[in-house]
Amino acid sequence: MGHNSCQAVSVVTFDSGETLAQRFRSHMGHSSTLYGFAMRGMADDWEAGGPTLEVCRGWEDSPNGTMVQLRFLAGVFRLVLTGQAPELVPYYACLGGTLPPDGVWPVMRKVVAKHIPQLQEALTIVPQTNEPGRSAVLLAGIFEAVRATGLRRIRLLEPGASGGLNLHVDRFRFDGPDWSWGPSDSPLTLHTQAEGIVPEAFSIAQRRGCDVEPVAAATPEGALHLRSFVWPWQLARHERLTGALTVAAAYPLIVERAQAGEWLERALSDPPTDDEVLTIVWQSITRMYWPATESARVADAIADARSRMPLAHVSMEHGDHPGAADAELAVDGRVLGVVHPHGIPLWVPPGTHA
Ligand SMILES: C[S@@+](CC[C@H](N)C(=O)[O-])C[C@H]1O[C@@H](n2cnc3c(N)ncnc32)[C@H](O)[C@@H]1O
Repeated sequence: MGHNSCQAVSVVTFDSGETLAQRFRSHMGHSSTLYGFAMRGMADDWEAGGPTLEVCRGWEDSPNGTMVQLRFLAGVFRLVLTGQAPELVPYYACLGGTLPPDGVWPVMRKVVAKHIPQLQEALTIVPQTNEPGRSAVLLAGIFEAVRATGLRRIRLLEPGASGGLNLHVDRFRFDGPDWSWGPSDSPLTLHTQAEGIVPEAFSIAQRRGCDVEPVAAATPEGALHLRSFVWPWQLARHERLTGALTVAAAYPLIVERAQAGEWLERALSDPPTDDEVLTIVWQSITRMYWPATESARVADAIADARSRMPLAHVSMEHGDHPGAADAELAVDGRVLGVVHPHGIPLWVPPGTHA
């Protein structure tokens, strides 16, 4: 079928009982965001046999969790970010666009029709984010671990690190109403809004991370990849990401391609040469993607290592109750507080984001 074909599609349903068009429509309901209007346009276009159908050919019976619509829109966003779709810039608030989103689809449809092979390729890329706001949660956890152990030199290990942006925690600036911490000339300042945080001095002697799909955040390609999965109207997230990517480019680090459990076993197999080094295992919003065997292997590796080295486990994960939208900061299993899923602001009333 050619790109401009308008052959109508008969409505076929699959395992989930929904067509792709139905999935696109239901993802953002009646949302008045850019992606709400885009997804409804994509749905109509898919049913009418337009370019959306052509891009999505072969994905019709993919599982719901594949989030074809997010892959599609990230692909479009990459075209915008790389200057290949200047006509869409006025709709992208993070690029200074101010046009209302309700007019986006006819413009986007033309862009889609012009870039079918690139967007087909985009559908193969798994949605991936790395939220530097979560480093504020890590910082609060590090302060707690430093206070508890008296150790101020840290080896930081992060399973599920994505692009490893939060491994640069000591290179970001943080503040609250009555405290601040970190280099005052950092390209990223995170305003936590949290009162009463007592900063501790520490230094990071070593930092390492792993991920099953690591992103090279120090490279232009890696930066583009991470940007394209942050929704274009979330200005604060884009601003944070820009600051963190500037730091990442200045201090390139390699996130190893590995699964959390087996990587942590290896990373923890040798204690640091210096007894005065505190090993901190940090993880954020990754456990929900792990099979139960992975979680068990991580827990065993941490428990086993405690007899061989000073170790603290700082975790920011969703609570165990189903549908928990907030996240909890826990240090060695003790919950210190509930935090926004993006880390900022620190400490939110439970249930705020349900
Ligand atoms: C929502 S992202 C969070 C990334 C980062 N921790 C953050 O807070 O920004 C979840 C990450 O977990 C990774 N992941 C999923 N399963 C994994 C596994 N079994 N082992 C290691 N990483 C995994 C994904 O590839 C993804 O980068």
